[in-house]
Amino acid sequence: MDKFIAQGGVPLKGTVTVNGSKNAALPILIASLLTDGECVARRVPPLRDIRAAQRLLEALGKKTVYENNSVRILPGRRLSTAAPYDLVRRMRASVLVAGPLLARFHEARVPLPGGCAIGLRPVDIHLKGFEKLGAKIITGQGDLLISARKLRGAKIKFPFPSVGATENIMLCAALAQGVTVIENAALEPEIDDLAACLNSMGASVRRAPGGKIVIEGAPKLSGFSHDVMADRIEAGTYLIAVAASGGKAQVRGCVPEHLKAALSALKKSGAKLKINNGVIAITGPARPAPVSVKTLPYPGFPTDLQALWMAYMCRARGASVIKETIFENRFMHAAELSRMGARISVRGGAAVVDGVDALSGASVMASDLRGGAALTVAAVCAAGESVIRRVYHIDRGYRRLEEGLRALGAKIRRASEEM
Ligand code: EPZ
Repeated sequence: MDKFIAQGGVPLKGTVTVNGSKNAALPILIASLLTDGECVARRVPPLRDIRAAQRLLEALGKKTVYENNSVRILPGRRLSTAAPYDLVRRMRASVLVAGPLLARFHEARVPLPGGCAIGLRPVDIHLKGFEKLGAKIITGQGDLLISARKLRGAKIKFPFPSVGATENIMLCAALAQGVTVIENAALEPEIDDLAACLNSMGASVRRAPGGKIVIEGAPKLSGFSHDVMADRIEAGTYLIAVAASGGKAQVRGCVPEHLKAALSALKKSGAKLKINNGVIAITGPARPAPVSVKTLPYPGFPTDLQALWMAYMCRARGASVIKETIFENRFMHAAELSRMGARISVRGGAAVVDGVDALSGASVMASDLRGGAALTVAAVCAAGESVIRRVYHIDRGYRRLEEGLRALGAKIRRASEEM
């Protein structure tokens, strides 16, 4: 297991270019199950979760090759409709194989994904959607057995704009006979990237007014060659890191439009921003003004930047309140930040952060992807040395985060953890 060792206190300077989006790439890779054609997803960073998705597709029968930032997926043996538990349990997004397997083979056996560090992560909205399309679902030995004699387009109203459920239903309805309308669909840009990829395969998926998505089922779908969108969460991570360090830098290759809520909070905190095309230039304040945020579905403040925002607010000139409304247990980084001298009190879904002049380096432990990134950002801003353990959590969603921060002048390196 690797760890990061950081000497904090250096204002970040320079330029960093963001990679393709993990959360767009995962459903796009899984869309390859809808076809026997060759599929190529470009601008895919070599992340642990991408490798996990490749293993899963191979276990189902596909052949995959990762080369120069692209994943090529080719037909292999006859596809299996049963996803193996030991692969599904490692990555929540694996549940997305249910939609395409059901669409093509009218059956899917998917282990109940189980929870993860940030919450129970139920899939009830996915399942109710499948039932609306005509599927029957039984659970047995921890598996979901989903089957359908016939899949027919339907009107599906989501109680919550779930990203995964929207993707799963899109992946299934793309081959179901007739028209499916998802009401209260997720508005995240990653959904639009998946739709663009599905449409390039011959599907017909489009957004309609009032948060609807309309999918007209196609008889057959071809392969794809798709450039994955920029990772808005990686971009937001670097922007907050530069602001928190009081530095001045450029973040390239992102879509500012995808970051409106985070950019507005950064402005309120006293950061100076200049935006043109895909380049965001940011100058951080010496110490940020306290800015309270509440996480919401897109386009609200993204839950995936909540931990990063908390790390930033640790040194604010006053108290801020961070409300987490998307996941029920996404404050685990608060206790570790407190080890660095932060003053945070968590009550239910809200954390009150009382800003301090400076954080001090400490030995801390990552327990999930974005919380680990937040600890890394805090360590780069803290006085003295920090060690961040279990960085494998961070490697799930960031391409060598320590290298990106080092390119901005941070004193941080990766070391292997003696067992
Ligand atoms: C996606 O997760 C992202 N993951 C998450 O990013 C992100 O935090 C989340 O969307 C919200 O934006 C990927 O895209 C791979 P949801 P997902 O379904 O699809 C509840 C990261 O750090 N819910 O919108 O799981 C659920 O428990 C990861 O990159 C149900 O109750 O998110 C959660 O509380 C973390 N029933 C909330 O909705 C369901 O059937 C949001 O879930 C589905 C979800």
